[in-house]
Amino acid sequence: MAAKDIRYIGVNDHDLDLFEGQYIVPRGMAYNSYVILDEKIAVMDSVDARFGEEWLGNLEKALEGRKPDYLIVQHMEPDHSANIFRFLQAYPEAAVVASAKAFQMMKNFYGSDLSDRNRVVAGEKSTLSLGKHTLTFITAPMVHWPEVLFTWDEAAHTLFSADAFGKFGALDVEDPEGWACEARRYYFGIVGKYGPQVQAVLKKLAGLPIETICPLHGPVLDGDLSEYLNLYQTWSTYGVESEGVVINYTSVYGHTEAAAEKLAELLKARGCPKVALNDLARCDMPEAVEDTFRYGKVVLATTTYNADIFPFMRTFIDHLTERNWQKKTVGLIENGSWAPMAAKVMKGMLEGCKELTILEPAVKITSALSAESEAQLEALADALMA
Ligand code: FEO
Repeated sequence: MAAKDIRYIGVNDHDLDLFEGQYIVPRGMAYNSYVILDEKIAVMDSVDARFGEEWLGNLEKALEGRKPDYLIVQHMEPDHSANIFRFLQAYPEAAVVASAKAFQMMKNFYGSDLSDRNRVVAGEKSTLSLGKHTLTFITAPMVHWPEVLFTWDEAAHTLFSADAFGKFGALDVEDPEGWACEARRYYFGIVGKYGPQVQAVLKKLAGLPIETICPLHGPVLDGDLSEYLNLYQTWSTYGVESEGVVINYTSVYGHTEAAAEKLAELLKARGCPKVALNDLARCDMPEAVEDTFRYGKVVLATTTYNADIFPFMRTFIDHLTERNWQKKTVGLIENGSWAPMAAKVMKGMLEGCKELTILEPAVKITSALSAESEAQLEALADALMA
């Protein structure tokens, strides 16, 4: 931690199969929590239910015999809020600080909104003085739940950013891919739909001399913060992060896969800086989702199936549309042995996406690649490189 009176008291989870019930976490997950030690002591959020004892042990060690005055609840999702009442059993004198919406959620999750005890309702720009540290609360609705607060500690030039700037991965496992890879999968999986709301909170942060970011998952960020802030700017505006093409496909007998691989070859031969290929039935779909937000050019290749499209592609397109996927150039490849209609179905599913350029015509494969469909792939490669 950059400021010596802010201590880390979070925990690492190596047992979790799926984060939030859907995301694999091969390097585990961290639930972060912090203590600010001042004349008054504030604890920033709790951790997942399974780690209550470890967290309270970390807290006790950090307190060095003192007692906390406040538990600040920035976010009510249970990976952070599950130990609020356990904390209050240990420290009944402490006040809980949270937004009005968070107290409502507390009642819904845990049966009490604490209205019978010491609580502080925080809102936009409300402050809490701990002594040297004055905390200012910043509302961050839908980043990624409606009740979320960020907390700005002016004395330490530190932003407590709730889920924002978080990533997958426990903190005691090295991530050879660096911050961005698992932060991107996390962002588009969890917050991707709420770009305008992320933009709104980034605007509120714009004038602050932030030196350290303390998120609720992933490492504490300090030093040059521009990489993280710039990526959040790109991601929340659905911009193009990397030049290249991502080809997402499904294939039943390998013919659509052969078309996807052929197109990759044609693109590389034309100097495409990066071609990512995802077999949607076999890859980690959230990885394919993050690629599809990352690159400006996207190809969707699938088979006609039950007069619709292959189920993995249908699910994948749902993942995109429910996250407000937009502002991309899209090429379509359809396969169908007797009545190809996958391109029409995919186009229909993408109709509500803003600022998509769909390249016409779609490549049509009738069972297996032919001279005719290979020529169409050549034309698609040209259009994608134009
Ligand atoms: Fe880490 Fe939205 O909970």
